[in-house]
Amino acid sequence: MTANASSSRGERDALKRAAAEAAVQLVQDDMIVGLGTGSTAAFAVEALARRHRQGLRFVAVPTSERTAAQAAAAGIPLATFAEHRRIDLTIDGADEVERETLNLIKGLGGALLREKIVAAASHRLAIIVDGGKLVDRLGTQAPVPVEVAAFGLEPTQAALEGLGASVQLRRSPAGEPFVTDGGNRILDCRFGLIARPAALEERIGRVVGVFESGLFTNRADMVFAADTGGVRRLDSARVHRGRPPILVLMGVSGSGKSTVARELAARLGWTFEEGDSLHPESNVAKMHAGVPLTDEDRQPWLEAVAAWIDDQRARRQPGIVTCSALKRSYRRIVVGDRQEARLVYLQGGRDLIAGRLANRKGHFMPAALLQSQFDTLEEPAPDEDPLTVDIGPPADRVAAEIIRLLAASGAAQVNSPSRSR
Ligand code: 5RP
Repeated sequence: MTANASSSRGERDALKRAAAEAAVQLVQDDMIVGLGTGSTAAFAVEALARRHRQGLRFVAVPTSERTAAQAAAAGIPLATFAEHRRIDLTIDGADEVERETLNLIKGLGGALLREKIVAAASHRLAIIVDGGKLVDRLGTQAPVPVEVAAFGLEPTQAALEGLGASVQLRRSPAGEPFVTDGGNRILDCRFGLIARPAALEERIGRVVGVFESGLFTNRADMVFAADTGGVRRLDSARVHRGRPPILVLMGVSGSGKSTVARELAARLGWTFEEGDSLHPESNVAKMHAGVPLTDEDRQPWLEAVAAWIDDQRARRQPGIVTCSALKRSYRRIVVGDRQEARLVYLQGGRDLIAGRLANRKGHFMPAALLQSQFDTLEEPAPDEDPLTVDIGPPADRVAAEIIRLLAASGAAQVNSPSRSR
């Protein structure tokens, strides 16, 4: 190794250590802690061992045999899922972090299946990286590792190629197929830049022979990213205002609520509910017949939307629901004092929307009702704290703008104190 290479490695290690040190501050007495895998996670294990020696009481669930060996040698008490089904906090590394969503690629260290199992069982997932791993779009540098059964490797590989990937079987330095802790193989898949990571994660997950992919969407709660200026803590939009947000996409018919919601769900991996599907049959019939709904008609529908939101809140899951919510009084029913519910107003001019409605097929809202929609519309006021977006650009860009606004309003700065959830 050249002097330059070794000093840049030393600098990178210093950044990894700094990120790890910041994250382990989240660990408190009596926690069950998930231990990640990789060179950055190893610094966290080291720091936790030090805190353990200083008297911090916790038990840890490791994500690999390698991490288990390091932790055990350092005196950290280990536990299994047989003893603890839920983990309070997991600290793990990543190969790429999408800046605005905190979606991840993981698994270059080969532990992705156990890492995902541990992440899924964790109340909070903190990711530690050096700043060079932050990207605008996943797939910029890293392939997506996919853990697959050794049996039927070839058809599984062909199916992944069918999803548009160029696929390589991972090999050990000796040239043998790499074998995971679970005895499986890894196919490294290059998809190019990934515009809709949650949708891709789901499609990969449906391939027979696949255990899990290294796409971790809607998992990370925070990322500690270290660069020469210090450690920055980025909080996921999924803990917006300290709670999982439920986005209420509002606006007149034709403003693109459903299309934008689907784009958001494909990027974020949040559950999406089509608000129109919550209308009682009688309302649907009226709308088909071109009869405007009365406030009395809308009441059960708005209550059904509110009930869907409450269900998400009870499960502490983020979500996206479409609901025209044209009047403030309607929004009072849907949003009320629910801290989680965040209005997203899709704002557009009448001409643009009229043009879109004229081209729309198979929808029950005839263009003739647009006038009554605009007559009814009361734009959300500042005290309703809406995220307002212009619907002029294509839906994927509108969705990207919503994510940007959400991230900007939720992002925290250097080593800010942890927020409760
Ligand atoms: C292992 C992982 C690692 O967390 C990821 O590869 C990052 O590793 P490193 O910190 O060594 O760069 O996902 O499966």
